[in-house]
Amino acid sequence: MMPYYIPVRVYFDHGCLKNSNFNFKTLGHKTLIVTGRHSAELSGALQDMKDVLTKNGIEFYQFDQVIENPLVKTVQSAVDLFNRESCDFIVGIGGGSPIDAAKAVAVAAYNHLNAQNVYDISKIKGAFPIVAVPITSGTGTEVTPFSVLSDDEKDKKAGFGHESMFPVVSFCDPGYTLSVPPIITRDTGLDALSHLIEGIFSDKRDPVTYPLIDKGIRTIVKNLPRVIQDGSNLELRSELMKASLWGGIVIAKSGTTLQHAIGYPLTVRYGISHGRTNGLVLSQILDLFYPALESSFKCALGSDWKKVIQDVKKLIASFDLKENLNLDQTHFPDMTQDVLGSRNMANNPICVNASDIIGLYQKI
Ligand SMILES: [Fe+2]
Repeated sequence: MMPYYIPVRVYFDHGCLKNSNFNFKTLGHKTLIVTGRHSAELSGALQDMKDVLTKNGIEFYQFDQVIENPLVKTVQSAVDLFNRESCDFIVGIGGGSPIDAAKAVAVAAYNHLNAQNVYDISKIKGAFPIVAVPITSGTGTEVTPFSVLSDDEKDKKAGFGHESMFPVVSFCDPGYTLSVPPIITRDTGLDALSHLIEGIFSDKRDPVTYPLIDKGIRTIVKNLPRVIQDGSNLELRSELMKASLWGGIVIAKSGTTLQHAIGYPLTVRYGISHGRTNGLVLSQILDLFYPALESSFKCALGSDWKKVIQDVKKLIASFDLKENLNLDQTHFPDMTQDVLGSRNMANNPICVNASDIIGLYQKI
């Protein structure tokens, strides 16, 4: 059995970046800040980071071209800038996309790889230090060694991971999520919920993380609808950010499963957000895996575990996730092949075949 391992310094509090005593100079003298076009600035995190870096005497550059589902070619542009300016470490500020892009840059630059080759983890010997600042509550990437990239030339979205890709430090300030709109709050919340439940689904499940799974699922079920209604409530935003962090701590060990693999083709072909794809399939995958996992659910969620699962299904059903969804059944065989080739399929608790996957797509 693999031991639990997560070497990330996590600061968690409103104002934690501005007020932290972390010595950025230990990471080097020059950094590249990787962001999306507007969200890092809107959240306030970008200005806080610039102030802190300036205070620490660190020179910085910004790459602000990362879009949702970061592209391999975008990562390459950031790698070129990182190398040109001889940066020592990288800062990712964003939802999962800029942080995942930053991780890929850290790996590609350190190992002298083209961005396309980062998927070949046998070529990864290390990475430049990574600093993560999440501004949504969902991906958990601030505490995982994973990155998910998309390659538009190959119509592929896939993840990769390496121990060196754990951020050295993450600053989780729920205040940065106050400006996240309701739909993104919903979708990122569903992503976090998936991570927590996949901590039970996964063949690499670890009872060490069960208390986090239990508390995290209940926290999201209780608070996600409230935050969607009132995004300005810092206390509730803080609850969601904690649950998201716990989801990341869980999948850092367990990895993700079919639950994530089946969503990637929906994002690539139809542009459906990552969290929404998770919500679209979660109830059906719970039904598929449940008979094999009854004792694990009971162990992780306690005596009212059946009610917790029902509450999760009710929460998902309360959202209009199928709005304007027009899936073309003729795509399902190709999408199924993509799912079967996905790395996270190795973590499933039972053997999943092509007809199971097509059946799941048909149930959406
Ligand atoms: Fe995810």
